[in-house]
Amino acid sequence: MKVVTTKNGLKSILDTFRGEGRSIGLVPTMGALHEGHASLVRRSVRENDVTVVSVFVNPTQFNDKNDLKNYPRTLEADCVLLGKEGASVVFAPSVEEMYPEEDTRVFSFAPLDTVMEGACRPGHFNGVAQIVSKLFYAVEPDRAYFGEKDFQQLAIIREMVRQLELPLQIVPCPIVREADGLAMSSRNTLLSAEERERALTISRTLFSSLDYAKSNALDATMAFVEDAINATPGLELEYYRIVDGNTLQDISSWDESEYVVGCIALFCGKVRLIDNIVYKNN
Ligand code: PAJ
Repeated sequence: MKVVTTKNGLKSILDTFRGEGRSIGLVPTMGALHEGHASLVRRSVRENDVTVVSVFVNPTQFNDKNDLKNYPRTLEADCVLLGKEGASVVFAPSVEEMYPEEDTRVFSFAPLDTVMEGACRPGHFNGVAQIVSKLFYAVEPDRAYFGEKDFQQLAIIREMVRQLELPLQIVPCPIVREADGLAMSSRNTLLSAEERERALTISRTLFSSLDYAKSNALDATMAFVEDAINATPGLELEYYRIVDGNTLQDISSWDESEYVVGCIALFCGKVRLIDNIVYKNN
């Protein structure tokens, strides 16, 4: 496994692989890797000759300076994990390498980016599109892997690939959870033991809402989730939305869409967590 920090270094390695006719998979990450990331890497290793994993905490997608400052950075441990999983190249550039000058590009993914995370974190998806497009240009992968944990991000990346007419395939990967159900996240390491316990209410509530939804209307199911979160001290709900899984727009009844997903964002203490659950996909 090679670790490179510059776009030129990356290009010379990848040009060699491409010259040999090898397929390239890309897994973009911000590091502090866990089993969720590892599942994406394993899938890419299975489906491609070469797997590139980028590890870069992208400043332009953070709308909160403290969140950027506190974001866990564990490159050495990340490289150990990636070596075990069979990644071929780790791309770990500096901020100056990725942004030698200010990126002034403004993307528009409306209406996908005007709801949920897009509404709560102004500029977030523009920053995601800036860095992911730069990574796509630098790597020119055949396939790129994204987790359904960041459900809206996945929809937005697909839309970006469509708008920019990039010749690559986006591969969605299922959410990986801890044994007790909590969706894995780099931010989970920032939770105290007590907060970690409270955070469990999120996945428990989402899973029990699946049952509840079988015999209740959509509105009532939304209230069921909101009430359970609001009743848990230490959790502060930002939103719960039940949306069409393709358009990400709110729906008002179960019949309104063939693909129905519930998306939640909340603060557990100072740590912002997101999760989602599929009610229907047929
Ligand atoms: P990061 O949060 O590090 O996540 C990297 C990838 O891992 C994303 O596609 C995310 O959806 C996926 N992932 C994270 N936790 C997961 C889990 N529990 N199960 C399955 N997949 C999971 O998302 C980002 O970084 C950044 O926004 C990035 C795309 C790298 C751009 O900076």
